[in-house]
Amino acid sequence: MPEDKNFTNKLILGDNLEVMKGIEDNSIDLIYLDPPFFSNKTYEVIWGDDGEIRSFEDRFEGGIEHYIGWLYERVRLMYYKLKPTGSMFLHCDWHANTNIRVEVLDKIFGRDNFRNEIIWHYRRWTGVANTFQKLHDTIYFYSKTNIYTFNPQYTEYTERYIDMIDKEIDKQGVRENDVWQIPFIAPSAKERIGYPTQKPKALLERIIKCASNEGDTVLDPFVGGGTTIAVADKLGRKWIGIDQSSMAIKVSDFRLKKQHDAFSQPYDMILRKFDYDILRNSNAFEFEAWIINKFGGIPNAKQHSDFGLDGRMSDNTPIQVKRSDNIGRNVIDNFLSAIQRYDEKLFEKNKKEGKIAGYIIAFSFGKGAVEEVARLRNKSKVIIKLLKVSEIVDYDKKPEVLLSADNIDENEFEFTAKAKSELDIDFYAWDFSHSEQNGFKPDVLFDKIGKQTKKFPDGEHQIAVEAVDREGISGTDKVKIKVKNKK
Ligand SMILES: C[S@@+](CC[C@H](N)C(=O)[O-])C[C@H]1O[C@@H](n2cnc3c(N)ncnc32)[C@H](O)[C@@H]1O
Repeated sequence: MPEDKNFTNKLILGDNLEVMKGIEDNSIDLIYLDPPFFSNKTYEVIWGDDGEIRSFEDRFEGGIEHYIGWLYERVRLMYYKLKPTGSMFLHCDWHANTNIRVEVLDKIFGRDNFRNEIIWHYRRWTGVANTFQKLHDTIYFYSKTNIYTFNPQYTEYTERYIDMIDKEIDKQGVRENDVWQIPFIAPSAKERIGYPTQKPKALLERIIKCASNEGDTVLDPFVGGGTTIAVADKLGRKWIGIDQSSMAIKVSDFRLKKQHDAFSQPYDMILRKFDYDILRNSNAFEFEAWIINKFGGIPNAKQHSDFGLDGRMSDNTPIQVKRSDNIGRNVIDNFLSAIQRYDEKLFEKNKKEGKIAGYIIAFSFGKGAVEEVARLRNKSKVIIKLLKVSEIVDYDKKPEVLLSADNIDENEFEFTAKAKSELDIDFYAWDFSHSEQNGFKPDVLFDKIGKQTKKFPDGEHQIAVEAVDREGISGTDKVKIKVKNKK
């Protein structure tokens, strides 16, 4: 929750055009972007939530020129964010690659900074058509200047080749060229999450190793299901992932949780709304400083201030924060004497000029507090402004989840998750070997229905489910099962 001045290791929900404005110029080492292709088809809509649909409509209002304009302004901003030694890998396909190279990349980076046109060649089943099968994507590699990070990548020699040349060869293998044979993610692959545009980890591994070093910062402004940041994290790079879909952000969050180990870096997930429980249970001093900042005030530097006030506005009007609900009248009485003692002159001046004498920020206020504030205003001309946290930041209550297990065969169970939420539930994620110690490490990251069947070996198992609402906020429930196979 406290804002990090260092803008790295962040998963951010929002239109990348807006979010990237908050990133420092010349601070990123590598940008990989896999924007939605220009196909004019609804299959481009992966997640289907409000954010993505908005972006889809935004891109396709007016044909290819419109799409190129949409991409151009984003890539131009990315260019400014790159360090002089940084580079960009832009992933696209035949739908718009020619236009992207000429009308976006050459114009922004300059033709001199073109480094490679990488062909990612894969095999997959395609329908019969009277054209050649389309089995490659294009990845354009541009650097910001002619001094840039480039670590050559190697693939192992084949045994046939070693036999053929029949001599001692360098173990590194052969230097990679610009045609990359990397398999498409197979339907049964372990890394497969279940959305159509997921890119293989091996592809991102090659790009990240080649164009960045440990400790460098990698940005993916169209992060999707988080392939880039999951790989960047494993390779010890700092990272930033942005997506306009709350589902994409939450799937990426689950993916990072799933691979979490002792080497994983801590990160922040920034959604449009805050999680009420997290705000209510956060460290009190941190919360006070954070909400005062959000309100535009100046928090106290020290935890224990005089008079129990927590901060002030730039004109010195005092602020007090109560991290609770249903604030009572006693808080108003104490606040009134505190602000009088804090700055008597200012208090009298505000009273005389009919200005606000002080602010109290809380989650909600009881009737007694509200009535006392009204009485002070009418009788003594003292204006105390009561501000709800929800007037400063948006928050949302977690979905309430109920998980049930049905033993449908000896060792086979059917699990059903039912979620109650103020907002719609977008999807569910499942951890079938849950432990409090390891945290939530989902085996299934993207289940739209909330039902799973699974077989278990003998023993005790704990199953946890998380239900994710339209804003990316999740609630959880767990069940324990015992399996004893009769055979
Ligand atoms: C092709 S997918 C990326 C897939 C990703 N490379 C992976 O491996 O999972 C494109 C993503 O861009 C997101 N997107 C589209 N327009 C956006 C925008 N203006 N700002 C941020 N994200 C956007 C979509 O929600 C979608 O998740």
